[in-house]
Amino acid sequence: MTDSQAPQAPGAARPEAPMARRRPATRRTGEAEPAGGPPRQTGQDWRTWPVYAAAELGFRNYWYPVQWSSQVGRKPVPVTVLGERIVLVRDSGKVHALQDRCPHRGVPLSLGRREFPGTLSCPYHGWTYNLGDGRLCAVITDGPNSPINGRVSVATYPVAERIGLIFVWIGDGTPHPVEADLPEELVDNSFAMGGRSDIRRGNWRFAAENGFDEGHAKYLHNTALWRLFKVMPTWNVTRVISEGKWLTRVQDQVHWEAEFPNVGKFSNKRWWKRMPLPDAPGKASKVNPVIGSMNLLGFVSIRLPGILRVAYPQFIHYEWYVPVDADHVRYVQIMVRFERGMQARLFQAKYLIAIRWLFHGQFTAQDAWMVDVMDAPPERLYRPDLSLTAWRRHVEDVAPTVQPATTGSTGAR
Ligand code: FES
Repeated sequence: MTDSQAPQAPGAARPEAPMARRRPATRRTGEAEPAGGPPRQTGQDWRTWPVYAAAELGFRNYWYPVQWSSQVGRKPVPVTVLGERIVLVRDSGKVHALQDRCPHRGVPLSLGRREFPGTLSCPYHGWTYNLGDGRLCAVITDGPNSPINGRVSVATYPVAERIGLIFVWIGDGTPHPVEADLPEELVDNSFAMGGRSDIRRGNWRFAAENGFDEGHAKYLHNTALWRLFKVMPTWNVTRVISEGKWLTRVQDQVHWEAEFPNVGKFSNKRWWKRMPLPDAPGKASKVNPVIGSMNLLGFVSIRLPGILRVAYPQFIHYEWYVPVDADHVRYVQIMVRFERGMQARLFQAKYLIAIRWLFHGQFTAQDAWMVDVMDAPPERLYRPDLSLTAWRRHVEDVAPTVQPATTGSTGAR
């Protein structure tokens, strides 16, 4: 379900929020099934990773992309981030983010009106809030001398606009610069980009794990149109290394075909498919200078609070997994090419004509399908899942502040 569009395609209608679908409560290994219940599921739970297990709604004290800049103007826009309902509104060019709940009777301020400059009025009784500090600054239906005026306020959130996206700080105290939560190469370089932002079903951790998952791409995506003319490996030998804020998958062996005892040979090779790139972007014969200077040892990297980087020799694909509520994730994907001028414009045209539909559409829709239907823990991990356990262990080492769970449905939006 597309929640918003690429910067190149503003004005798209907002879809209806999906129905929240709760996962069944976690059952620990060996715990008895209720009499007459479904067959016993066995495997590991997530007790080994207690911080991660508790982070159903993600982590505080990070900047999160919540909407395209082009999608927010004078009209209030509701979003839900880490279970917090927020209204975005632009005033005199600056985007403000406020708690989307009027303290009077709990009506969403995102349904409100813009009566006075720098304010937002609740649609019910006209309580009017200052966009800068969230303080009640006029009470239209109680006259200019309303005694409650100035004595009530709604929470406000720090906002920053970068790379065509609105970032909101979900955290406590003074935020660190938004650049600290951006991939480093996007801070200082010029680039062209295209992207999509969707709200998808499933917890954000499943989406993040899917992104960094070593095992699935070569099998699940070998039917994707994006890979129609490229061979996918059958299996790899992989390790995970830590570089700064990033974990990176490094492929030590790539096997394009294999003979499986008693069942036969498996290969994705076909006469119409060509062999793909080397096993790291810097090893290709033609590498974009910015990407080459990054000295990446592998294509795929992940970092907190849930950002994936898939680097190819000529472009980089990024994904942000922004928790919406326990059962939905805002899936922000951008494709970046470090070019200017005509090359940049050609890339943007190519993005709109092909990449947006083939890669950011059909290819990652296969991921969305798996994230939606996945039901873990319990789980029985296998050798390639070292990528998942490395990511979980990294979270335990950093130990970010877990966003407390909310009760009831937040209404994904
Ligand atoms: Fe907002 Fe009454 S509910 S003004």
